[in-house]
Parts: sequence; C-alpha cells; structure tokens
Amino acid sequence: KNKKIKELVDKAAAEANLSKKEIIYLLEQDFSKLDYLIKKADQKRKELFGDEVHLRAIIEISSYCKQNCHYCGLRKDNSELERYQLEKEEIITAANQAAELGYKTIVIQSGEDDYPAQKIAEIIREIKHNNDIAVTLSLGERDFGVYKLWKEAGADRYLLKHETADKKLYQKYHPGMSFENRIESLKYLKYLGYQTGSGVIIGLPGQNAETLAEDLSLLKELDVDMVGSGPFIPHQNTPLKNSRQGTLEMTLKFNALSRLLLQLTHIPATTALGTIDDFGRQKALQAGANVVMPNVTDSKYRRKYEIYPAKICIEEQAADCRQCIGGIINSLGRFVSTERGDSRKIKTG
Ligand code: SAM
Ligand code: SF4
Ligand code: FES
Repeated sequence: KNKKIKELVDKAAAEANLSKKEIIYLLEQDFSKLDYLIKKADQKRKELFGDEVHLRAIIEISSYCKQNCHYCGLRKDNSELERYQLEKEEIITAANQAAELGYKTIVIQSGEDDYPAQKIAEIIREIKHNNDIAVTLSLGERDFGVYKLWKEAGADRYLLKHETADKKLYQKYHPGMSFENRIESLKYLKYLGYQTGSGVIIGLPGQNAETLAEDLSLLKELDVDMVGSGPFIPHQNTPLKNSRQGTLEMTLKFNALSRLLLQLTHIPATTALGTIDDFGRQKALQAGANVVMPNVTDSKYRRKYEIYPAKICIEEQAADCRQCIGGIINSLGRFVSTERGDSRKIKTG
C-alpha cells in the first residue's frame, strides 16, 4: 500500500497529473499514511517559490448579502447578524494603512452586497493612485460589465471560489444561483486579464473523494492563479448548523494535492483552517501553501463579519495580525515577501 502511495505521489510531483481514480485513491487514504504526500508538496512549494510567503490583507467592506448560501453566516436569512457597510473613505484609509504595514496586496471582500459599482471603481482608482499595491476583489458575482469596469479602474485580481464542482450539490447549497454562471464568471474574469482565484469548501455535507477529484480537475481546467480551500465550519444560524465540520486532515490532503497538480498556483493557508486548529495555518504552510491572508478590517466591524463561528483575529487590530503572522512565518524558517506576489503563470507589465 505504501509503495502505491509513493508511486502516485512521485507521479503527481513529476507530471502534475493524475487520473481521477488515482486522486480518489490518495484522498481516501488515512492521513497517517500520507506523510510522503505532505513532504513532497512542501518540497514542490520550496522548489517553485522558495521560502517566501506572500501576505494578502483582507478588508471586509460589507456584511450585507442578497444570497442565501446554506453554509454561510452572512446569508440573507440570518436575521440575527448585525450588518454594516464601510464608507468609501474608511475603505481607502484601511487600504493605506495596509500599505503602511508593508502589505503588497489588499483584498476587498464582502457579501453579495449591491455596493454601487461606480463607487467601487472610484475606490480602486484612488487606492491604486495612492499606493504601489495590488488590488484583489472578492465581491461575489456581478454583471459582466461591472467586472470590466473594475478591471479598467485598475483592479488586478478577482477571487470567486467555485466552492464545489458537484453541480447538484452546488445548486442545492446556493438557492437562486447558478453553477454555470459561476464558471462563466471565472472564465470571463480571466479573459479580461484578471489574475483569478478559485477554491473549494472542504467537507461540505454530501461531498466525497470523487467530487473533490472533480474539483481538482476543474481547477486545472480553469487554470486559476490562486486556489484557496478551507474547511467547512457549521454556523448556528444556517440550514447546515447540525452538519459535521470539515477536517484538518482532508484540507491538508487537498492543499498538498493542489500544489502537486497545479504547481505554480498560489495557495493560501486559510483563516478557516486556522480557526479549526490552532496550528492549522502553520500546517498548511508546510503542506504546499505559500500565502496567508491576514485581516486588516477595523476591529469594531470584525465580529459582524461572522461567516462562521469562532473566527480567529476578532479582537485584534491590523497591526496585531501583521505582527502575529510575521512571527508565525519566521517560526517556520520562512520569510514575508516584499514583492506583490503576482501570478507566476503569466507575465505582468
Ligand atoms: N460573497 C463572496 C462570495 O461568496 O464569493 C465573498 C465573501 S464569502 C464570505 C467568502 C468565502 O467564504 C466563500 O467563498 C466561502 O467559501 C467561504 N465560506 C462561507 N461560509 C463558510 C463556512 N461556513 N465555512 C467555511 N467557509 C465558508
Ligand atoms: Fe453571501 Fe458569499 Fe456568504 Fe454566499 S458565501 S451567503 S454569497 S457572503
Ligand atoms: Fe490575527 Fe494571528 S493573524 S491574531
């Protein structure tokens, strides 16, 4: 058995390719047997990216959401969540502060709020004018013309996780949304010149090794520049409140396989993994990940952006998280990059 695991891991590392059956075989192995997979993913990360870790500063600009994703605490029907929306000036101040803390990328994230598209474009322009910083958007699905408007305003990247490649499961957990539109959005964003990020929720009820293998082949097909996959964490005010949480082990297996099969794609050690395990982000950084996404939202808003319970970094301020994450990265013998960390798959001007 161990021989077969080694054979498949070596093949993945050398060819960046495995059949669906082979991926399923690895995902179904007990984590205790997969030291070699984790080790090879860590080696591949080191070979391709060295010990440099890129930081992306997240600004959570609004907790309003018109969607009703079954897993998410920001869903429209969660009437217990107090909503907030940052003013334009607050967003610009947060971005400037992130730049002062040394961040080279900010991620502007929100629920599917109808924040006026023109206003976001102005914010992007102003941030890009003030700072030498990459701007990533994570604002959910919008009209295709809006993606174009924001690209022209200077946005560099867009994060839109496909969440699960199992179409039936996708439709079940995203009432009123369409899997096709999600994938078309990702393709169009890429066509517009955005560096694109997708990702998967690991451990959604109904998901299995087969659907996760489909996730990996979809990610390969979409040729995304970043893949952020974190564990599902049940939230008390959602339809999935009684479901089982995703595991550290499956998340690490998936991240390690992502590194071997997707090679130059950036992979973050997710905040969700740091939430279910005190050393979750450290473990992911040693299983193929090369990115961390600390929070820079003002702490007076942080608890209101409760995607899932017990989220880390709720009491901290931006500078605290910057210091904490620097310490974590250094403790692993790694260092924080001073570069923007653009996609390694494309040439940027
Ligand atoms: N509204 C935008 C969207 O859905 O793309 C961006 C914000 S949304 C809160 C960011 C991500 O949070 C989603 O892509 C989803 O993967 C993740 N998420 C939401 N609820 C979660 C949960 N209960 N456990 C783990 N991840 C969750
Ligand atoms: Fe809204 Fe995004 Fe949460 Fe879905 S995952 S409910 S779109 S914030
Ligand atoms: Fe926020 Fe550690 S990254 S407290």
